[in-house]
Amino acid sequence: MKKWLSGLIAFAFLAVAAVSFAGAPKVVKLDKCQKRKPAVTFNHEMHSKMFKCNTCHHKWNGKGEPRSCFKCHGCKKGAAPKAMTAFHKRCKGCHRAKHAGPTRCNQCHKK
Ligand code: HEC
Ligand code: HEC
Ligand code: HEC
Ligand code: HEC
Repeated sequence: MKKWLSGLIAFAFLAVAAVSFAGAPKVVKLDKCQKRKPAVTFNHEMHSKMFKCNTCHHKWNGKGEPRSCFKCHGCKKGAAPKAMTAFHKRCKGCHRAKHAGPTRCNQCHKK
């Protein structure tokens, strides 16, 4: 292979890797505040195909990348409701309303 061509391919590959790395996650392990319950595995990719970004990223203005919920929702109550409240309301709330997705503790908090 010509040198410039392999260089170009390597560059293209790196560029793609960088974009997908900086972009939205596929699967997220939600365990920032875990003390009493096992961590929750969240399929971000599946949910982002079903719903608009701002269904969950409610403070996002549509520019750049949405920020982590944990930037504002800490493990303890602060200016924003604590993470447990925010996640339980958003996650369980939607599952209940749509009669789809887990609503029982150990269906989300899996060992
Ligand atoms: C059903 C809810 C939901 C939907 C819909 C959703 N997200 Fe997320 N997103 C989350 C949760 C929960 C996390 C992980 C917790 C966290 O760190 O914010 C997350 C994390 C992220 C992160 C990583 C933030 C960081 O700094 O770690 C990005 C980027 C992101 N989402 C972008 C998007 C984009 C773009 C869309 C729309 C295409 C989208 N999300 C749709 C709930 C959602
Ligand atoms: C920039 C800061 C910020 C980010 C990022 C953020 N929130 Fe919030 N959130 C708040 C604030 C502040 C409130 C209090 C009410 C309001 O101002 O909207 C709130 C309220 C909520 C509520 C309502 C809680 C209640 O008791 O009624 C839910 C649910 C929620 N956020 C979920 C999330 C989720 C899920 C994410 C990530 C996908 C997220 N938030 C990202 C700041 C943020
Ligand atoms: C706006 C609605 C909505 C929100 C918000 C939402 N979900 Fe879901 N979720 C669904 C629906 C609908 C399904 C069922 C999809 C199916 O069965 O095809 C589902 C399925 C799931 C499942 C089972 C499928 C799997 O991935 O194993 C888990 C676990 C789950 N959700 C976790 C969460 C968590 C954790 C959050 C919050 C960070 C969340 N969901 C927020 C609508 C939502
Ligand atoms: C739809 C999924 C879902 C369901 C159902 C659910 N949770 Fe959670 N829960 C979460 C998420 C997401 C977090 C935030 C995880 C983190 O800290 O990153 C959380 C956080 C918590 C926390 C705070 C962290 C800790 O371990 O101390 C407790 C306690 C908790 N949940 C208990 C429960 C109990 C009890 C039930 C049943 C009544 C329940 N949860 C049902 C998703 C769920």
